[in-house]
Amino acid sequence: MSITELGRTGGGGPAPGEGVEPAVRVAGLVKAFGEHRAVDGIDLEVRPGEIFGVLGPNGAGKTTMLRMLATLLKIDAGRAEIFGVDVAGNPHVIRQLVGVTGQYASVDENLTARENLWLFSRLQGVAPQRARRIATELLDQFGLAEAANKPLAQFSGGMRRRLDLAASLITRPPLIFLDEPTTGLDPRTRGQMWDTIRGLVADGCTVLLTTQYLDEADQLADRVAVIDHGRKVAEGTPDELKTTVGNSALQLVLAEPGDAPDAVAVVRRVLGVDPVLSPERGRLNVALDRADLAADVLIGLRTAGVSVASVSVAKPSLDEVFLALTGHGTDRDETGTEEDGR
Ligand SMILES: Nc1ncnc2c1ncn2[C@@H]1O[C@H](COP(=O)(O)OP(=O)(O)OP(=O)(O)O)[C@@H](O)[C@H]1O
Ligand SMILES: [Mg+2]
Repeated sequence: MSITELGRTGGGGPAPGEGVEPAVRVAGLVKAFGEHRAVDGIDLEVRPGEIFGVLGPNGAGKTTMLRMLATLLKIDAGRAEIFGVDVAGNPHVIRQLVGVTGQYASVDENLTARENLWLFSRLQGVAPQRARRIATELLDQFGLAEAANKPLAQFSGGMRRRLDLAASLITRPPLIFLDEPTTGLDPRTRGQMWDTIRGLVADGCTVLLTTQYLDEADQLADRVAVIDHGRKVAEGTPDELKTTVGNSALQLVLAEPGDAPDAVAVVRRVLGVDPVLSPERGRLNVALDRADLAADVLIGLRTAGVSVASVSVAKPSLDEVFLALTGHGTDRDETGTEEDGR
């Protein structure tokens, strides 16, 4: 089996996860920057052929973990294997097994998309003619054929993201790391990126992606690990995670913050559960199994004489998942250190 076939699940191979090495197996992974443990003992297993999501807020350690797995950062402690190959001991093999995005800093702005892909292929030792063919195929696959001859300086954020992903696929690696592939993209471009990622998996790739969005994990990932402060706080399918916070979330802002104890009592009586009081005074989050239970809560509040300044019923967000799992939200300071104890 050649290295590019290793771990591919397409072409009549074993079904995902059946009798093959895991695509990624991580045990007790640690990375410390000075005193700060950015990754603090993470265990993970990604099955071949799946999309595995690592969900966490700013500064959780997502990028640091991916960089260690991609041999771009030294592993301080613990063990990581990719398709059974030890990462620390075999960096050259790992680099052939993994495609990493987030490289567009090294893409040349003055060259066209086609020239950039050609150049990347040549740098990876692909013969000139084959490099030309690969560039054309990737431009087609990523919907960039029309823009192929434009300089990158004229590309939108979404086009750059797609070119970046295309560049990471030149050698057809069986495992792809995507670090927040859709952060900052508009909804339509996001949807296109999701389709592209699903296409890669249909082709037999395994995808490990990081995201800050529960809805992205929900749309894409077969399984998800939630990480916070460098530690895994939960793991499961997106449905299992959402169940921890109900299928929808009722958010209430009370007209009088002083009514909070009465409002809590109403929620408890109507639904039999306690709401989560947000740090901001007068805000309540209530997990609902069905969105229409919101009406029962509102009627109960009116009957109890509690007035409400605003109401929304939404799908649970990452923030609610976090609140439920960790007792704190994802809103931390810019440095992500949260040392101020908020
Ligand atoms: N090279 C570095 N030197 C020192 N500290 C670092 C370095 N890289 C990351 N950190 C710190 O490690 C922690 C984890 O950072 P990381 O970039 O892995 O988070 P992340 O989950 O990817 O966040 P984001 O969603 O913002 O991308 C942060 O507190 C960050 O400040
Ligand atoms: Mg990051």
